[in-house]
Amino acid sequence: MKRIGVLTGGGDCPGLNAVLRATVKTAHDSGLEVIGFKDGFRGVVMNEYIPLTPKEVVGILVKGGTILGSSNRDNPYHFCLEQKGETIYADLSDQAVANMERLGLDCLIVIGGDGTLACAYDFMKKGVKIIGVPKTIDNDLNGTDLTFGFMTAIDTATDALEKLHTTAESHHRVMVLEVMGRNAGWIALQAGIAGGADVVLIPEIPFTLERVAKKIFERKKRGRNFSIIIAAEGAKPEGGQQVVKRIVEGSPEPIRLGGIGEKIAQGLEENTGFESRVIVLGHLQRGGKPSAFDRILASRYGVAAVRMASQGLFGMMASLQGTEITTVPIEVAIKELKTVPPDGEMVQTAHSIGISFGAEHRS
Ligand code: F6P
Repeated sequence: MKRIGVLTGGGDCPGLNAVLRATVKTAHDSGLEVIGFKDGFRGVVMNEYIPLTPKEVVGILVKGGTILGSSNRDNPYHFCLEQKGETIYADLSDQAVANMERLGLDCLIVIGGDGTLACAYDFMKKGVKIIGVPKTIDNDLNGTDLTFGFMTAIDTATDALEKLHTTAESHHRVMVLEVMGRNAGWIALQAGIAGGADVVLIPEIPFTLERVAKKIFERKKRGRNFSIIIAAEGAKPEGGQQVVKRIVEGSPEPIRLGGIGEKIAQGLEENTGFESRVIVLGHLQRGGKPSAFDRILASRYGVAAVRMASQGLFGMMASLQGTEITTVPIEVAIKELKTVPPDGEMVQTAHSIGISFGAEHRS
């Protein structure tokens, strides 16, 4: 092993820089050179990269985002090109492989979620040696207990819930906080528990507005003239659809969700007479410095990735299982999404402390 490549792909996420820092420091100690590709797989296709030495990673542990840049729309297998004023899509994966060969890379460390790692898996089939690092605020990656960035997003959403209590209580309102998470309700569920939400709406448990309204009236009877609802962007009503905000052409994950919070707030105002407001937390969940927990987890993942490369554990992803960092095949990580088990302990805990899911046996 002489030279390794690294890239950060998909949506940015607190802790990306901490992984890069740990990767570079560990590689440097083992006498390995590191090449950092710019903007995820775009940099591999376009051959845009920077050498990463310990100097480049000074002071980045606490910084949000990624010093390499990232992209959640550039797919080497369906790459967007502008030609003579027209947009066309082409498979430039072989060009990407040729670039990596020309650079003499012994392996590529891919820091990403399921979309980025699925793309990395396709490169494995072309002979590229890949090591995966699990990233996403959504925590929906299979094969690991936690992705880095998730706990920081939980802190942000929890803080928002705490602040919303103030206005909800003072003005006797229903406040609906819409959070990210795509098709998984991890952020809504865990922030809901930590932030004292009365109702948690997640994609895994379809809701009805009637049952949510029932919870609000029950609270009113007990003299609680306000309610706090946290809704995952992927939450959907029974028999209904998720709300799609936009389609990003060419992206490995073209569907962007968003807008369910507004529908819930409107519906509840009509149903209950309670003045209701929606707050979309959006990209605040991805921004800012990583929490101490995520700095530690990201550092552990970065060190593990380089050790895995040295041991020739290609095709594997660093993974947290219990309290240990271990490895799982990338194939397992991308096989299916890790969603909230509707009858799992965490949902039952929420239910036992009075949280409604707006559903029949969990209202
Ligand atoms: O996967 C991370 C994530 O933040 C999701 O929670 C969200 O649905 C999506 O990315 C938003 O993507 P974009 O930044 O392209 O709007």
